[in-house]
Amino acid sequence: MSLPKRKKIRTFGLLFCVITFTTLLFSYTFRDPSLYFFKYAFHLSDSFSSKGLCACQQCMVQLDDDPWFAERFNQSIHPLMTRENSVLSDETFKWWQWLQSENQPANFSEAVEELFQLIPDEVLYMDASPERCRTCSVVGNSGNLKGAKYGKLIDSSDFIIRMNQAPTTGYEEDVGTKTTHHVIYPESAIDMENNTTVVLIPFKTLDLQWMISALTTGTIKHTYMPVVPKIKANKDKVLIYSPTFLKYVYESWLENHGRYPSTGFLTLLLAIHICDEVSVFGFGADQDGNWHHYWENNILGGAFRHTGVHDGDYEYNVTLLLADKHKIRMFKGR
Ligand SMILES: *[C@@H]1O[C@H](CO)[C@@H](O)[C@H](O)[C@H]1NC(C)=O
Ligand SMILES: *[C@@H]1O[C@H](CO)[C@@H](O)[C@H](O)[C@H]1NC(C)=O
Ligand SMILES: *[C@@H]1O[C@H](CO)[C@@H](O)[C@H](O)[C@H]1NC(C)=O
Ligand SMILES: *[C@@H]1O[C@H](CO)[C@@H](O)[C@H](O)[C@H]1NC(C)=O
Ligand SMILES: *[C@@H]1O[C@H](CO)[C@@H](O)[C@H](O)[C@H]1NC(C)=O
Repeated sequence: MSLPKRKKIRTFGLLFCVITFTTLLFSYTFRDPSLYFFKYAFHLSDSFSSKGLCACQQCMVQLDDDPWFAERFNQSIHPLMTRENSVLSDETFKWWQWLQSENQPANFSEAVEELFQLIPDEVLYMDASPERCRTCSVVGNSGNLKGAKYGKLIDSSDFIIRMNQAPTTGYEEDVGTKTTHHVIYPESAIDMENNTTVVLIPFKTLDLQWMISALTTGTIKHTYMPVVPKIKANKDKVLIYSPTFLKYVYESWLENHGRYPSTGFLTLLLAIHICDEVSVFGFGADQDGNWHHYWENNILGGAFRHTGVHDGDYEYNVTLLLADKHKIRMFKGR
């Protein structure tokens, strides 16, 4: 082979390598969202065309949001109580007091103040940002989790949110081991793992007083029924639902069905407001149409559905619509 010819081949070879490498790099970059640098570098031009407002593949808030969703979702209503947003409108306060009408309620603003002297008053959850991809598992208590083996999948999210008496010990393979947030009300409270954040849904002023009591003296032992006087929990990891948010969920999402939303539905809506990507487990009936809890053998355990307080069917319909519109991912279990 003559010298010039060899040179040509070498040049072509080099060119080929460069093109291949560049092509590979680009296709890899665009396929793998974890290559954050490239995503960020392209973000400026990207933000005009991309639909999501976060760093996930599919974000809770999209620029081209579904009209059904956009009509109901209101980002400016903060799910959690702060000293500042605890000042309620008369209308909200009246509605909230009616939920579990107390005979002689204590002074609400004094109870709130006393609570915030004990627990942090912080806005913990900021709105989505182009840099954030916060994934959440919302774990309901349905018997459809029995044998579903979702444990690893559930545990792989950033936030793992459980509710009421949900145990994990003994059910790890199906429901996972981690709990970052546990949503309760006084009548459904249990002890927390040391790292878990308690999220209280207050349905009456006494519930705020119970939270204080349960973390300190344990003097409140009875609401409309006996409650646990004390719970094991870290007082620096306590959050309280805002009554304004409860009313918003009831009106905007449930269109006033039932008396007020269930813990399950309120937990789902919390996730929709603080997460970018939501996976839902353990909602709905099992394959035989039973509504018992995954830790119970009693298939009649779902009798709570017919108390008339919550409209479980309507709530489930809305949940399915959220899944249809790709706002949540439903894992239906067995
Ligand atoms: C969202 O909530 C805020 C605060 O209550 C209210 O001012 C605003 O009108 C609501 N937006 C929509 C679209 O309903
Ligand atoms: C509740 O307490 C606050 C502060 O102590 C007081 O300003 C307010 O009037 C009280 N409200 C009622 C209804 O008694
Ligand atoms: C929580 O418990 C784990 C193991 O049980 C321990 O390693 C960790 O230090 C504890 N964390 C706190 C904040 O107490
Ligand atoms: C518990 O919290 C500590 C300190 O915040 C952290 O280092 C540890 O990894 C956490 N453990 C679990 C099991 O989440
Ligand atoms: C739920 O949706 C189904 C089908 O769309 C409808 O037939 C049913 O009436 C709905 N149930 C409630 C309680 O809204």
